[in-house]
This record gives sequence, structure tokens and C-alpha cells, in this order.
Amino acid sequence: MKDLGGGVDVPLPDRSVDAVISDRVINLSEDRAAALAEAFRVLRPGGRLGVGDVVVDGEPDPERRRAAEQRVGRVAGALPVAAYRALLAAAGFVGVRIVPTADHGDGVRSAIVQAVKPAAGEGLEIRPMRASDASQVLAIYQAGLDTGQASFETIAPSWEAFTAARLPHLRYVAADTGTGQVAGWVAASQVSARPVYAGVVEHSIYVHPGCQAHGIGRALLSAFIAAGEDAGVWTIQSGVFPENAASLALHQALGFRVVGTRERLGRHHGVWRDVLLIERRSDVTGA
Ligand SMILES: CC(C)(COP(=O)(O)OP(=O)(O)OC[C@H]1O[C@@H](n2cnc3c(N)ncnc32)[C@H](O)[C@@H]1OP(=O)(O)O)[C@@H](O)C(=O)NCCC(=O)NCCS
Repeated sequence: MKDLGGGVDVPLPDRSVDAVISDRVINLSEDRAAALAEAFRVLRPGGRLGVGDVVVDGEPDPERRRAAEQRVGRVAGALPVAAYRALLAAAGFVGVRIVPTADHGDGVRSAIVQAVKPAAGEGLEIRPMRASDASQVLAIYQAGLDTGQASFETIAPSWEAFTAARLPHLRYVAADTGTGQVAGWVAASQVSARPVYAGVVEHSIYVHPGCQAHGIGRALLSAFIAAGEDAGVWTIQSGVFPENAASLALHQALGFRVVGTRERLGRHHGVWRDVLLIERRSDVTGA
């Protein structure tokens, strides 16, 4: 375990530590995004981040910030809680908790920041999806569609269409830590622009045919559920063909319920098919 100092290049190999801790050192770094990306890099899957940092209420004016610096030390890179949460999510962390502690006045507070790198099986890492994953993500998508049991779609979209339809902060891949090869992905779309449905998303999950039944779907979906809850998602829904036993079992194992059967909802290769509407209501977000 190493302290995460003001610099952002931590002299440790990838996935080499179980925990990253720091008490009021990370606030010396003005580039929180880079510091958090380093923390994510050096942690093993399932590893934990726990740092004491400084957060601000809104954007305090420079005068107030200077006054606070006199009392707390450097606060130059300090962020509002919501922005801090977004940076942790962008780095790939889930299970985020930011608990304010001492109030230093002038809108500056100490806070305990905790988060987890998603757990994954041996030799795998779950991380946010990148544009450079596009061809592998779409190939896995196509392989799933080719089974005829994953979706009404038959042809995977272009990357442009894929990316435009999905929320940028709720897409993850499981990748081989050695080769970087993508083994599966999960992503979500907003179901409605109406504010009342702001916390309702619809997701898809696809695992490479050569990698199925090794717990990758479970790890991806678990990370996605946690990330959704961090981001304020209270309901995740999806449509599943009744014949898709693997998908149904996976989702039910992770807290989804079958709301009902939508009968002969659409035609797939000319055949009318039923779709099970499944959903998972969070008991954490929107409780
Ligand atoms: C559905 C899918 C994502 C599951 O991913 P996976 O990595 O194979 O699943 P996991 O190995 O994590 O299995 C998780 C659970 O799902 C269930 N499961 C997995 N494969 C199964 C199968 N063939 N039959 C029945 N249950 C199965 C098991 O309950 C398993 O739990 P267990 O490990 O405690 O036994 C994968 O099969 C897939 O990509 N299918 C093609 C695309 C698709 O249909 N996507 C879903 C669209 S709704």
C-alpha cells in the first residue's frame, strides 16, 4: 500500500494493491481526475479507495477559498461533491460514498471518500467502455444477435448509432488484463426525457460466446447496478425473450423480477415473439 501523493504517477504496477488510502494528501493534487485514474490503475479488482479529502459547496469565490486555505491548507483542486462523484465514476469506481466531516467555513469541508474498483474474475478487469473498444463491443453484440435469442435486432448498429443511443457514464466492459481483449459489455439508455423518469434506464448485456458461463455477465451486471445506484438510477429495466434462459437466470440472480409477459410484441425473422419485461428496483437509490 502506498500513499497517493501530490504527483499522479504512482510508482506501482497495474492491479498490484488491495487498498489505496490517503489522508489529506490527494488535496495537494490539482488534477483529481489523473490521481483517481492512477488509483484505479494500481488497485486490484475488488480493491478499495479510502481517502480523506476536501470538498467545497458550489464554487467558492477566490477570496473565500484563500481564507479557507489559511485554515485547512491547500484546497486549489477541491471539487463540489457531485463533481467528485462524477470523476470517481469516470475513473471506473463504483460504490461511491462521500461523507462530509469537519466544516472549515467558507464552503469548505473535509470529507471521507470511499469507493470500490469493480470485482472481476481472475485475469479480468471491469472498466468504463472507451471509443477504442468499439469494434470488439460491436462484434460481441453481433454474435449475441446471431443467437436469435438476445434481441429483435438482427444487425449491430454502427458505433455512432450505438454511442448516440446510450448514456456515456453507464457503459462498462470486462477486459482481459493481459491482452486488453474485451470479453463482454453492458450499457444503458434513458427510457424517457420526462424528469419523473430520470432514474429509469434500460440496459443490454452481451458476453463473448467464447467467454460465457464464467461469471463475466454476473460481474458486469453487478458493477453496472452499483454504478447506476451511484448515478441516481432507481429502476433498471429490460426486455428478455422467454427462451433466453441464461439472461433470465442471470438477471433474477441479481435482483430483477419479471413484471409480466408482453405477448407477441414484435416480429423476429417473421415470427411474432413474446417479451418478458424485467426490472430491478433499487432499495438504495430513491428509497
Ligand atoms: C446472458 C449472458 C449475458 C450471461 O452472461 P454469462 O457471462 O454467460 O453469465 P454468468 O457466467 O455470469 O452466469 C451468471 C448466472 O446466469 C445463469 N446462467 C448463465 N448461463 C446460463 C445458461 N446457459 N443457462 C441457464 N442459466 C445460465 C446462472 O444462474 C449463473 O449463475 P451461477 O454462476 O450462480 O450459476 C450471456 O449468456 C450472453 O451474452 N448471451 C448472449 C446475449 C444475450 O442474450 N444478452 C442478453 C440480452 S437480454
